[in-house]
Amino acid sequence: MTMKEKFVSCEEMGKQLAFAEKVRELTEGKNFKAHIITLGCQQNEADSERISGALNSLGYTITDDDMSADLIIINTCAIREHAERRALSFIGRYKHNKAKNPDMVLGVCGCMMAQEHRMKQVITFPYVDFAFGTGSMHRLPEFVYTALTKGKRKFIKDPDKMQICEDIPVLRKSGYKAWVSIMYGCNNFCTYCIVPYVRGRERSRLPKDIISEVRELVESGYKDITLLGQNVNSYGKDIEGKPTVADLINEISKIEGEFWLHLMTSHPKDATSEMIDAIASSKCCANCFHLPLQSGSDAILKRMNRHYDIERYLSIVNELKAKNPHITLTTDIIVGFPGETEEDFKKTLDVVEKVRYDSIYTFIYSPRKGTPAAEMEDQIPEEIQKERFNRLVDLQNSISKDFNDAMVGKTVKVLVDGKSKNNEKVYMSRTENNRIVHFESEKDYTGQFINVHITRGDTFALYGEI
Ligand code: SAH
Ligand code: SF4
Ligand code: F3S
Repeated sequence: MTMKEKFVSCEEMGKQLAFAEKVRELTEGKNFKAHIITLGCQQNEADSERISGALNSLGYTITDDDMSADLIIINTCAIREHAERRALSFIGRYKHNKAKNPDMVLGVCGCMMAQEHRMKQVITFPYVDFAFGTGSMHRLPEFVYTALTKGKRKFIKDPDKMQICEDIPVLRKSGYKAWVSIMYGCNNFCTYCIVPYVRGRERSRLPKDIISEVRELVESGYKDITLLGQNVNSYGKDIEGKPTVADLINEISKIEGEFWLHLMTSHPKDATSEMIDAIASSKCCANCFHLPLQSGSDAILKRMNRHYDIERYLSIVNELKAKNPHITLTTDIIVGFPGETEEDFKKTLDVVEKVRYDSIYTFIYSPRKGTPAAEMEDQIPEEIQKERFNRLVDLQNSISKDFNDAMVGKTVKVLVDGKSKNNEKVYMSRTENNRIVHFESEKDYTGQFINVHITRGDTFALYGEI
């Protein structure tokens, strides 16, 4: 792909701007509201913020109240069966809204809609006006215009070559926490995973676009910035000059201001010393790192097509810890992958004990249509998957509890998230490694850094005083 072909063309954007103009004529003075439901990962959260921005520029205000919305968009996820079931149940729920208000517009988008069999299914729901995959978001003005003018329902398959669009406005949910996608798509084809099929091949944004976005965020007071990609370690391989994620970290670290920089996610096979050095020397990189393990067994990692073994994985962990003595680690683990024996599973427990992660995200393997693992023999029965899942969660809970106990008596810097849902006087905040800290306060410090003295800890949270 040439550099020009990487981006949605000016002609296409011109067409969309014309649709946007026509939509604004229809929405003018009507006080139309839009509601967006987001399922799935941070990548989808970031996409929803662009959908919000786009809808806002079409004359919609964004509302949390789905019942009063004139337009509802469901941004779906396909990573596990559970996510797809949730999306279908949301879609079903709005059948009734549409029955009450036939002018309401319902659109479905995201990873689930990039699969042909799901698109075919959604077409059969007559109350859905349009659906599109992750590569067609820039066409939202066209889809909304068609729905508002009662045109033909649109169900759009993503283009074979997915492109980047820099021209969609972003409306962020938070005033102090921001997602910044640095690349889209994935080339890795882990045998269990649907992402490469629904998000297309890796494509990196240009460093100048990323750096200026981050600079603007810091200048307008953002305190927590996460650089997003399915595999941020392979950032830049597809663009001129081959900039790396380390180059991005180094450039961002020169930006003046107090903020945390997080990375999400890193693939161990592409983790470089250059990146670890950049993290170590950066003034803003948060002292935590997410390094997905998936399994502690070399045999299973091979069947997962992960391209690393445990020796290599642990050497990255050691390098991270040696160069950043206070770093904490988190990870993703799948239990019950096809062919996983009790021995394989015990090796996963071993790695968890050895690395002592701050926290882990544990998933029961869910077969995804069209992926190689779904066709593998030796699928693991659900009872065994659940039993292993529980053992892993118990082990991690005891490790997390130890970590939280060790925090008692210390003073930590936190970023305040706002009032706790259950108690008016209590505020919720997070440390740089995402530990939850509750504290009481008369004053509202939401969106600010403060220091909290930790007085108590349990498995899931810490409690302290300002
Ligand atoms: N790109 C990221 C992961 C994105 S998906 C990475 O490579 O780390 C987030 C996590 O979901 C994965 O790390 C994996 O642990 C889990 N996952 C992906 N596909 C899955 C499946 N079919 N069943 C269960 N868990 C899955
Ligand atoms: Fe999925 Fe693997 Fe790509 Fe992560 S690296 S998104 S797990 S295929
Ligand atoms: Fe994310 Fe789900 Fe898509 S995890 S990339 S929203 S399949």
